[in-house]
Parts: sequence; structure tokens; C-alpha cells
Amino acid sequence: MSDADLLLSLESSCDETAAAVIHRDRRVLSSVVATQHDLHARFGGVVPEIASRAHVDRILPVIDEALRLAGVKLADIGVVAVATQPGLVGSLLVGLTAAKTLALALDVPLVTVNHVWAHLYACRMAAGPEVFPAVGFVVSGGHTHLFDCLSPVELTLLGATIDDAAGEAFDKVATVLGLGHPGGPLLEKLAMQGNPAAIAFPRTFLHDDRLQFSFSGLKTAVLYAAKGTPGSREQPPPLTPERAADLAASFQAAVVDVLVGKCEQALQQTGRRTLCVGGGVAANGVFRQQLAEMANRRGVRLVIAPKDLCTDNAAMGALGWELYERQFFADLDCDVVPGLMR
Ligand code: KG4
Ligand code: ZN
Repeated sequence: MSDADLLLSLESSCDETAAAVIHRDRRVLSSVVATQHDLHARFGGVVPEIASRAHVDRILPVIDEALRLAGVKLADIGVVAVATQPGLVGSLLVGLTAAKTLALALDVPLVTVNHVWAHLYACRMAAGPEVFPAVGFVVSGGHTHLFDCLSPVELTLLGATIDDAAGEAFDKVATVLGLGHPGGPLLEKLAMQGNPAAIAFPRTFLHDDRLQFSFSGLKTAVLYAAKGTPGSREQPPPLTPERAADLAASFQAAVVDVLVGKCEQALQQTGRRTLCVGGGVAANGVFRQQLAEMANRRGVRLVIAPKDLCTDNAAMGALGWELYERQFFADLDCDVVPGLMR
């Protein structure tokens, strides 16, 4: 098999249809993301069947556009990479079917990428190959997972959430506060007007050295603070714009304290000197700021994925090159691994 120079990466694990063309030297020649936020907004969350149908409509135009922007032809592609786990089953299947078809038609190797690991590879894309070994932290809509990363493809899970993911908590609290979908960026904006010390929300497990997270209690605490506690005669203060901003800022402060605190514990427990952070919530400005302060204080190297590589995209599927280089090829009868990563 001749050595390839160009990799086509496909991503369709949730509600973004994405394709990227990446050179062997990890230069991203193009990266196209078609979001479906408008389709899901009125339901307040991602509807799996709508997501998979939209992927079917968009996958080929998105691939075409990625090739066009990269200035290459399909025949120039030497490897096809696709995210096959974790995610929504119908969504993953659309990407995998397209990838298998292209790999077969072009007679090139297929590699299957773990989407959560790819979120960390976004840090490698930004900062070069020396980021590993590191503590890796993926904070997204589905995952709040801490890893000990020996290399981009040797990850050991250190701990994760036992209920909601951090991004999911942002989205649900945004719904309680009457914001749109996805809620994370909207909540961050509202929080800028609020006082993060207005309400002392719980910081679950922060003073416990187990590397695990729980956000469902916090989410309920915000709900009760906004709408009142069931069975209580006490009325909560009216949900004025000022009160909503205080709730948003206080919620965000509680989440960020826990996320940053757990990173610090993971660094302490593993002795690693580098921290890589990726996933949609890593686009949050307050989180990025507090991570930087903590890393500075501890004298560790911090690599946060650039904002455009935090939310779902196919450029982070450059992880496929690592698999290709190790000859971890997939067979054409391989399948998706849906659900959440445990
Ligand atoms: O990584 P991602 O695009 O998709 C998953 O793999 O889940 O992450 C999406 C999540 C959503 O929950 C979204 O609300 C959250 O990331 N998010 C944010 C911000 N931007 C996206 N959360 C907080 N602050 C943000 N700026
Ligand atoms: Zn993701």
C-alpha cells in the first residue's frame, strides 16, 4: 500500500455534520461543519431521528465542500477516518456508511476514531506532538471525562460524571432560565451580567479526592432557586433579568470550580506536568481563565483546544493519522459503538 498524504475525516456523532481534509503533517487544509442547531432548537435538545435524517441530507455536500476548499479531488485522498463512537446510533451510522463507501471505492484504508479521544487530539493539533503524556479532560455535552494520556491512542480513564455531563447541565439550566439551544454559550453570555457569588450553589465532590463528578444536584438547586422548591410555601424571588443573570453566573461559578478543582487533583494524583482540555464546554471563557490561573499556580503546561476545535468538528479527526501510522486499520464490516463512553 503506497503512503498516503491526505486524510478525509468525517464526523457525525451527534448534531454536527462535519468533514475535513488533513495533510499527513497535520495541516488542516479544510474543515467544514454544518450545525443542526436550528432543527433541534424548538425541542430544547437534540432529537436523534431528526439528527440522523439531517446527516443523510448533508454528508455528501459537506464532503464536497471540504474537498473544494482544500483544493483537492476525491482521488487524492489516501485515508478515510470516521468517528464511530460514542454517539447517537443513527447519526454515527451515516458517517460510517459514507466512510466505508469512500474507502471501498477509492481502495484506501479506513480508520475509526473515538470521538472523545479526538476532542483531546484537538489539543495536539494546536500545540504539536509534545503535548503527551498529559492529563486529558474532555468536557462536552455528553462527557465529563478525565484521562491519563500516555499518547494520543493510549488513554486510561481516571474518572467521569456519575450523572449529567457538564455541557448537559449548562443546557438544562439554560432551559430553566428561558434561554435557547444549545444553552452553554447563551448562559455564558447572560452570566457576564450577573454576580457569581450571589447564590452559593453546591460544588459536589470538590473536597473528595475521588475523580468523579455529579451535576444533577446542582441542576436541581438552580431549578428550585429559579422556580421555587416543590411543597414549600416560600416563594422564590421573581425571575427578573437581574436574578436570571445572578443564577447563571452562580451556576457557572459552581461548575467551573468543580471542573478546575478536579483537574488539579488529577494532576496531583498522576504527577503529570501537562493538562490538555477539549470539548464544547472548553470554549467557556471563565473556565479557560480559571484553568490558566490554576496551571500557572502549579507550574504545569496547559493546552486548551482553540475555541473552533472545542465544539464538534472533523479536524480533530486528524487522530486518524495516529491510527494510520500505527496500522490500526478498520475492516469494512466494522460497526458503530453508540451510547455514552463509560
Ligand atoms: O463537544 P460538543 O460540541 O458536543 C458533544 O460532543 O457533546 O459540546 C457541546 C456542549 C453543549 O452542551 C454546549 O452547551 C456546550 O458544549 N458549550 C458550552 C459553551 N459552548 C458550548 N458550555 C459552556 N460555555 C460555552 N461557551
Ligand atoms: Zn463532541
